[in-house]
Amino acid sequence: MKKGFLVFMATLMSIGVFAGEQKALVAYFSATGTTKAVAEQLAQEKNAFLWEIEPYQHYTAEDLNWRNKQSRSSIEMADEEERPMIKQCMNITPYETIYLGFPIWWGICPRIIQSWLDNNIPQLEGKPIYPFATSGSSEIGPAVEYLKKQYPMLNWQEGKLMNASKK
Ligand SMILES: Cc1cc2nc3c(=O)[nH]c(=O)nc-3n(C[C@H](O)[C@H](O)[C@H](O)COP(=O)(O)O)c2cc1C
Repeated sequence: MKKGFLVFMATLMSIGVFAGEQKALVAYFSATGTTKAVAEQLAQEKNAFLWEIEPYQHYTAEDLNWRNKQSRSSIEMADEEERPMIKQCMNITPYETIYLGFPIWWGICPRIIQSWLDNNIPQLEGKPIYPFATSGSSEIGPAVEYLKKQYPMLNWQEGKLMNASKK
């Protein structure tokens, strides 16, 4: 009886009944590891599930060369319709709060973030989405404004730039 009660309590706690917690997801894309490190820390702080949005085709250093107008990232960012393929999908249905991380590319989010959003719109609707980003120096404001404009049906929250100097 006592053991059964303890198991029951542990189950309630694990689903966050007592803490009033909601299940959180930290989903992020990172081309060179900076956003990844921040996402890992955030997931730990929020006790959230961590998910890397991985491109089907990895970005090489040349792909990321923003000085070259013909590089993959330049071509993708110049075309609002570009949606790079994602390697693997996950079921986000159980998660109630979403933290969405990315590096700032040309002032906004990389197109793969839009690929991920497009794949998940029905499951995201109504859930608070907290964007976070790393950058060379750009602020996150314009990236969040862009996301709000492209996805007005989603519940965008204030964004947070998480550059080392800002923490
Ligand atoms: C294609 C490309 C475009 C970028 N555009 C910007 C930009 O507009 N503003 C900025 O401050 N940093 C820019 N950066 C720098 C990245 O935002 C920054 O290095 C970021 O922390 C990288 O994160 P990651 O290691 O997770 O990929 C750009 C980097 C790349 C590769």
